[in-house]
Parts: sequence; C-alpha cells; structure tokens
Amino acid sequence: VAVSPALALDFAAGGTLHATHGLHAFAAKSPPALARWAISTYTKTGAVVIDPMAGSGTTIVEALLLGRRGIGCDLDPLARLIARAKTTLVEPARLRARGEQLVAAARAGADWRPSGIDIDTWFRPEVQRDLAGLVTGLAVEPADGIRDVLASLVSSLIVARTSVGNARDVVHSRHHRRDWEEDPKTLERFERRLRAAERMYGELARLVPAGTSAASVSTGDARRLALADESASLYFSSPPYCSALDYTRAHIFAVAWLSIILDVSTEDYRDLGRRYLGSERAAMVDATAEQPLPPQLGVPSVDKIVSSIAATDAGRAWIVYRYFRDMRDVIREARRVVVPGGHVALVVCPSNVRRVVIPTDRLFTDLADTLGGLELVVHQSRVIHDRRRVMPYLADAFGERMRTEYVIVWRRPDAATVSGGAQFNQSGASGMTRDPSIPAMDAPGS
Ligand SMILES: C[S@@+](CC[C@H](N)C(=O)[O-])C[C@H]1O[C@@H](n2cnc3c(N)ncnc32)[C@H](O)[C@@H]1O
Repeated sequence: VAVSPALALDFAAGGTLHATHGLHAFAAKSPPALARWAISTYTKTGAVVIDPMAGSGTTIVEALLLGRRGIGCDLDPLARLIARAKTTLVEPARLRARGEQLVAAARAGADWRPSGIDIDTWFRPEVQRDLAGLVTGLAVEPADGIRDVLASLVSSLIVARTSVGNARDVVHSRHHRRDWEEDPKTLERFERRLRAAERMYGELARLVPAGTSAASVSTGDARRLALADESASLYFSSPPYCSALDYTRAHIFAVAWLSIILDVSTEDYRDLGRRYLGSERAAMVDATAEQPLPPQLGVPSVDKIVSSIAATDAGRAWIVYRYFRDMRDVIREARRVVVPGGHVALVVCPSNVRRVVIPTDRLFTDLADTLGGLELVVHQSRVIHDRRRVMPYLADAFGERMRTEYVIVWRRPDAATVSGGAQFNQSGASGMTRDPSIPAMDAPGS
C-alpha cells in the first residue's frame, strides 16, 4: 500500500510521556511521534492543525510543542476536559498550591454521591468519601485551567489500569470487577499524581516555543464541524475503530463523579454514546420493514463487506454500514476545512466483525476516491510498538494484526489545479474566522 516511497513511521517504543502526554490514560491514544511527524512534514510554524476527534489531545499537544495553533474537538466531555487540561500552560507552583488546598479540604470528606452508577458495587466507602471530598472541593474552585488539570487528575485515578474503583482495566471499555481488599488511599494517590503533574507542566512551559498561539478545544461532531471552510493547513486524526471501543462505557465512572464539573448528567452521557462513530448502540435503529438490511452506500468495497456480514447478522451489518457512511461525512468535512494545498491525515486500524476482516484503511481510501477532491500521498502500515495501546480483548481476536495500523495522508489540490472550479460543496457551518497565520487563498471557483 505504500503510495509514497516507504517512510520511517515505525517510531521505536518510548517518547510517549514528555510534556503533558502522561496526564491521563486514554484508549487508543495516538503515538505523539506520529502526530509530530505529520505536523512537521506538512505545516510551518504558526499554521493551524485541527484534530476533530481529539480524544485526550495528543495532536494538539504536539502542535503546541511545534509552535502551531492546535484546534481540537470531541463529542466526549471527558476527552475535552483532558485535552484542554493537557494544552493549557498552568503555572506549576500555583497548580501545586491549589491541589494541596483541595486535598486538605477533601480530608474532611463529603456526603455527596454521584447518580446513575451503582456506586456501592464499584467504590469502597473510603474511596467514595475521598472522591466526594475532591469533587465537592472542585465544584467551588474557579473554572480555570488549573481546575481542568485538577479535575483530570481526579479522573485519572478512576480511568486507569489500576483504578481506585473496584474494577480493572477501566481505560478500555470492557472492564472487569476486581474488589480492593483494602483502602487504595485515594488522596495519597492524588497527591502523587499532583507531584507528577507539577513536573509535566514545568516541562510543557519549557518546551512550547515563545509566541505560540493558545490551543482551543471545543465540543464538536467530526461529521459536521462548526469550523469555517479552509481553516487549517493540516487535519490529523485517529477516528474510533469500527465496532470495538465504547468510550462512554470506559468513561462512565469518571463522568458520574465529575458530572458537576463537566456539566453533564450520567444519564445524558449514556445517551450521547449512541452518537459516537462506530457505536454499537441501537444497532437496528435505521432498519424498517421495507429496509431490514442496510442499503448500498455506492462504494463497492464497503457494500460487499456489509452484505457479507448481513448474511449472518443484520445488527452488525447496520453498525458497519453506519460507520462507513459516517466516515464518508467525516472525510468530506476534512476536505472542506483544510486549505487548498493542505493535508488530511487519518490513522486507522483494521477491524474484525463476525470473522469478516474489515480493511478499514483501504475502505477509507475508496470513500475518498468516491468523494473526489483529495489526492492520496501516503498510505502505509506501521507497527504499534506501545503494548499499552493494544487492547487486550482485541489482541485475542486479531493476534499480531492488531499491532499494525495504517497512516493515510491526502492532499487537497491547490485551487488552480482543481478542474472545473467548485467541484464539491464548499458551504458549511461557519463559526470561526480564518486564522491570520494562514495565507489567504480563494476557495475553488470563487
Ligand atoms: C481513537 S480516539 C482519539 C484518540 C486521540 N488521538 C488521543 O491520542 O487521545 C477517538 C475519539 O473520537 C471521539 N469521537 C467519536 N465519535 C465522534 C464524533 N462523531 N465527533 C467527534 N469525536 C468523536 C471519541 O470520543 C474519541 O475521543
């Protein structure tokens, strides 16, 4: 699949914890080195880099470190909190002082209990008391960057391999129950995380070049972005896998505890899960008596796979159909928001649904070919060296294959080389003005 001469994208393990990258665990986190490679290859200092499925913010942290302006969106409120926290320059000494005050207040405990989760099953009484103390303390903090960091630290105690909850592997959505036999000492763990965070923010401040624009993180749906046409030089993202990870399930405990800070109820958060790309919820919602199986998308490779799954499992076939239908909208939006001459990069893994292998990377390139207006410049596999990124249950299903992912980069042709002018719909929701650091270019056909 190498379109360009083979590139060295198999960065060795390591290099994943500099600056704020280690603030919080996150399922299917991208390797920072890959984002760094794309940003430095395809953009210049001061350019805008967009990641609309920003997750925990790896791309925008790297954009900051390279002196670019990072813009991130995500549907998930916990992801946005973490991404915002990781890309805000907070003063380490102030962070420590506020964190210590928070712990001192939390020692008194609090009676508050989150709703919407079976709290007595998942949290020991001492853990409940400590988390309630931290959360009620956060609720009266000023809503600033330091509070985002402190709230992310609370979440990092829950969404962790070794969670303070009675669960193992909460980062990946299929956690298992594991009761603590003794108090895991939540506040001591928080203090350790606080000291680590103090170092991380010191390093972030040292590494971000002077004069770099602040990053921005907002809510958004990658299928329909509230971004002006031609907002960025580079779109770099790692979309969710088709039918494999349920982010709302992985995050539900942390969201329940932080619902006041995130301003979302546990119930609304659960409902939001249906809107995520690749969601397995409400599989048959679009099925009707007249249309019991998914229709054709008009992309032969996708249609063939969907119909082979439909032969045994209509629900799964709808999930896969919707994923590729939605990803076509995502790629269309990507093409709209990059400048002519700019690049769109996606990092994807293959999937396996009902024993049917889904070569997601090839299907994405087929989707882009059907849309037109993007030239493929890189399509290459790379080895995932970081074992922590390989989801245990996926590794069981895929073996070594799960350790391979694909990097796809398209270039949006320059306005002058697009034949026929406005070849695709340029209109879109426009909530932003063009960044002055991007050289003004006329939209095709204008
Ligand atoms: C693979 S993760 C991204 C990980 C990220 N690159 C990182 O390093 O942390 C995919 C993200 O897509 C988000 N997502 C799912 N559906 C979305 C949608 N329709 N619009 C925007 N974000 C979405 C999920 O919440 C999740 O955070």
